[in-house]
Amino acid sequence: MSEMDQIVSIKNLWKVFGQKPKDISWEQMKTTKNDDKLKKSGCVAALRDVSMDIGRGEFFVIMGLSGSGKSTLIRTLIRLIEPTKGSITVSGSDVIKLDKQGLMEFRRHKASMVFQNYALLPHKTVLENAAYGLKIQGMKEKDRLEKAQTALETVGLKGWESYYPGNLSGGMQQRVGIARALATDPEILLMDEPFSGLDPLIRRQMQDELVELQDTVKKTIIFVTHDLHEALKLGSRIAIMKGGSVVQIGTPEEVVTNPADDYVKEFVKDASPAKIITAGLIMEEPDVLLYRWEGPKTARHLLRSSKRESAFVISKKRELLGIATINALDKVLKEGGSEFGDSLDTDIARCTIDTTLEELFPVATNTSYSVAVVDEKGRFLGEIRPRMILDAMSQKEDEEDV
Ligand SMILES: Nc1ncnc2c1ncn2[C@@H]1O[C@H](COP(=O)(O)OP(=O)(O)O)[C@@H](O)[C@H]1O
Ligand SMILES: [Mg+2]
Repeated sequence: MSEMDQIVSIKNLWKVFGQKPKDISWEQMKTTKNDDKLKKSGCVAALRDVSMDIGRGEFFVIMGLSGSGKSTLIRTLIRLIEPTKGSITVSGSDVIKLDKQGLMEFRRHKASMVFQNYALLPHKTVLENAAYGLKIQGMKEKDRLEKAQTALETVGLKGWESYYPGNLSGGMQQRVGIARALATDPEILLMDEPFSGLDPLIRRQMQDELVELQDTVKKTIIFVTHDLHEALKLGSRIAIMKGGSVVQIGTPEEVVTNPADDYVKEFVKDASPAKIITAGLIMEEPDVLLYRWEGPKTARHLLRSSKRESAFVISKKRELLGIATINALDKVLKEGGSEFGDSLDTDIARCTIDTTLEELFPVATNTSYSVAVVDEKGRFLGEIRPRMILDAMSQKEDEEDV
């Protein structure tokens, strides 16, 4: 996190609905379940000692089963719910210390919430609905309609300005909700299960659009969901909540390949590793990597002594030049050549560190060599042997068998 510009910092945050029993210390509260002792005393610990940092521009997902405290967490961030204990810093503001006026300013400019049921006004047009947040802020009509118009265009609703919400599909209504939040130009968008009311096809489409939207507007998004696939698809990092506690925070890859406990394991067991594991995670430093200046003779020697048929050849700048094979090297040397020259096979399957296993499959099956992982400048980063792709896929299934 240190290299990231941090926008949200939550430290030891608690929310206890009702009165905490006096005979249970905060330390004991961490492990006292909601369903026994606490319930009897009429209190619920919805957040238990939650700490996390969120970086500026992150797509941060909070995931967990129903009742795990997700909504409470996202709501305490803008104090729609008053936390019981702990600290919240958002973009430099100590949220807990804000007075009424300060809190209003904070919600206007720093963090804006998109609700699950859109909360659209049925007798106002799409444009007026999108401008509603700005109206509350007291912005002049002409200015707010202009800003709302731009926000509607951003979410793909140009042409729908004068319609009423009732004329729109669920997905479009949710877009109006997003446009309303965007119009106020907040630093952070908070979204509490915004797509859960939509049917699966529309939902997938909305997810795609939201990823694109974030890429365009570069906002920090904090997104709540109980759906693993949604979390994996959207999140740059995912915080997994259970009974008010955070049990794991990590990238989708980390969560799927290295679940912190049985709860997370249960959550991710249906996740397809092919969609999550990337080339960067499984690539290897090749046991033989040839440099152009070493020439064909050394190359052949290195290949033979490591019992390899072929290896990548790179330049001083680590640019990938091609593949040298034993057969081609034999031929060059027989003809008295001292350079790789045309003997290199330049038809190399390449991918980047972000390429998923799923995308790698067709690449790997179309080449008789290893796949080269390169950066955006074509510099060599690592090797993926076709077998490694299959290994990475089956590893997961093996684990499930035991
Ligand atoms: N206003 C409230 N009063 C009492 N208990 C509440 C209140 N709001 C939420 N809870 C309880 O807090 C826990 C977490 O709820 P919530 O944050 O809504 O979970 P999630 O959004 O993950 O489904 C649940 O046990 C819920 O019943
Ligand atoms: Mg909820």
